[in-house]
Amino acid sequence: MSTNSSKKHLITAALPYANGPIHIGHLAGAYLPADIYVRYLRLKGEKPLFICGSDEHGAAITLRAKKENKTPQQIVDEYHTLNKKAFEDFGITFDIFHRTSSQLHHKTAQDFFLDLDKKGAFEVKKSEQFYDEDYKQFLADRYITGTCPKCNKEGAYGDQCESCGSSLNPTELINPKSTLSGKPPVLKETTHWYLPMQNEENWLREWIEMGTLEGKKHHDPKSWRKPVVGQCKSWIDGGLQSRAMTRDLDWGVKVPLKEGDGKVLYVWLDAPIGYISATKAWAEENDEKWEDYWQNEETELIHFIGKDNIVFHCIIFPILLKKHGEFNLPVNVPANEFLNLEGKKISTSRNWAVWLHEFMEDMPDKNDVLRYALCSIAPETKDSEFTWQDFQARNNSELVAIYGNFVNRSVVLTHKYFNGKVPALKQFPHEYQSVVDQMKSHIDSCTQKLENKQFREAQNEAIAIARLGNKFLAETEPWKLIKTDEEQVAKILNLSLQIAANAAIALFPFLPESSRSLLKMLGLEHVSWSDLASVDLIKGGSKIAEAEHLFSKIEDAEIQKQIDKLQAKAEPQNKVEVDESKIEPIKKTIEFDDFLKLDIRIGTIKAAEKMPKSNKMLKLQIDLGNEERTILSGIAKNYSPEDLVGEQVQVVVNLAPRKMMGVLSEGMVLMAESSDETLALLSPNKKVSEGSKVS
Ligand code: MF3
Ligand code: ZN
Repeated sequence: MSTNSSKKHLITAALPYANGPIHIGHLAGAYLPADIYVRYLRLKGEKPLFICGSDEHGAAITLRAKKENKTPQQIVDEYHTLNKKAFEDFGITFDIFHRTSSQLHHKTAQDFFLDLDKKGAFEVKKSEQFYDEDYKQFLADRYITGTCPKCNKEGAYGDQCESCGSSLNPTELINPKSTLSGKPPVLKETTHWYLPMQNEENWLREWIEMGTLEGKKHHDPKSWRKPVVGQCKSWIDGGLQSRAMTRDLDWGVKVPLKEGDGKVLYVWLDAPIGYISATKAWAEENDEKWEDYWQNEETELIHFIGKDNIVFHCIIFPILLKKHGEFNLPVNVPANEFLNLEGKKISTSRNWAVWLHEFMEDMPDKNDVLRYALCSIAPETKDSEFTWQDFQARNNSELVAIYGNFVNRSVVLTHKYFNGKVPALKQFPHEYQSVVDQMKSHIDSCTQKLENKQFREAQNEAIAIARLGNKFLAETEPWKLIKTDEEQVAKILNLSLQIAANAAIALFPFLPESSRSLLKMLGLEHVSWSDLASVDLIKGGSKIAEAEHLFSKIEDAEIQKQIDKLQAKAEPQNKVEVDESKIEPIKKTIEFDDFLKLDIRIGTIKAAEKMPKSNKMLKLQIDLGNEERTILSGIAKNYSPEDLVGEQVQVVVNLAPRKMMGVLSEGMVLMAESSDETLALLSPNKKVSEGSKVS
């Protein structure tokens, strides 16, 4: 085995925002893989520290509070409790589930900030930020929505577009609107503490690409997932920028400086420090030292996260930790891609999700099954999809038909033929050596895959042990042999039970409850990963318990109920759906000079009328400041003439005039054509003077 047992492990899972319940995408993305890894380490006899907690600051919380007409504190109290319980229900065994609203955290985050400030890590700069004049407050990135400049979809947030995943600055949004007043925000001056990330590119690149830190080996870069390294590289290649580490908000960790009055720490500065404060809280309760986990180079720090968190854990937080100087950097950040649900992106706002607390109410004995189904489709290298049908199939045809069936037969037959006593053997039945060899090979692969954090394949190897046992029983048919050869049956059942015990141990990280039940049935209590591959785990002559079903079949009706429920609760999407097949390919690249040949101006429509004998064309009179032009435009199906008067539009003014339907058209009005063929005029998002040029 490749790990050095003197090493300590600090395992973190992304602190979920306490602004809503946890769904299967969260579980599959970060918490389940982290828990599987931690359970594996514990079985190996290591003592990993597994840290998590609620992320209780930031606009995610205040927005939710506003929507529900509650205080932010009420919101975080409610969801912290709900989510803590959901994690427990699904067997996610954090050593501590802390909170960033705690005093300990506020103090830790403030001290961290002050330390960095003393070391000159920040640049204090004035800048213009969006401000809502009606609500008299600066707008957090999340409070501004608009059209994404990268993919052109509406509903992008000031910090991120959820459609294309781009990370944004609020000023990049097209047509920005405040979510408070619904009006376009104005720019207003404010002061903030910035982290000049552009100065950190060299060591970051070396650290991510080579795994070295100041020339010293830090980690094996090949052990990092390709999409994670790829995302980091593209961030660095794109050029890092200064990022404000403070915000004008009243909910959060107060900036601990006089000049920072009325400001709080940026939530992405405060939240990852939550890992440190959670460690402190755990250490206090357990009479341990938190420094052993963060400041001892022998400790391996691993962050389990979803892919939308990569930049924060692989770039920003490492910069902060390194600037501080006394902290370890993560040796791996195994981020997962996204899990889709029944063909669509999981969406909290559209209620397209399977919520853990609801699953638990509907299927209280299927928590292990959900873990199994989610790990089988874990989005480790690319996005994947959960469907209820697949969930049913994993349960019925794998867990029930293979694992459950094998265990049940082994235990029932032992009771039937040997009164529940494990038949004692004088020596190992060599005729079955190949079965044992196959089992060993699955165990070796499973271990290897777990070490590599390929949990999906690791689980496949573990369940293969049960599959092997099931096949072994089916082929040896002890129920037929019993009439003629009891001694052979004794050998078969002994080996079957040993295989079942191996399956229980290997599957323990994935299916903890079922493994525990099975081990109990077999009379085994304290097991460890090093017990695996033994065929002498259950002693001959020992008594085993009565058979109990580990899993039960899920009927079609139950699955249909879940599908119906999902559909019924889904909110309609208030955006135009994109039909990708209708998006036109991008035209050939042109030079900047080609672009400069276009002269586009803003004009105001003074008059509009229908062209006779056409249901498509309108004749427009457009004021361009120093002249008025007549232009024909094919927008009659989308706009009626009276709607257009007074609208400002973009006009290509140097297009050669063309005679159409007997009228000379002196230019062209620009518009967007959506994939459903709707046309939309491109008006400036605030009034400008006629003749303004567009560039
Ligand atoms: N709350 C964030 C999210 O759900 C994750 C925070 S992870 C931490 O995306 F490192 F900042 F804690
Ligand atoms: Zn986008």
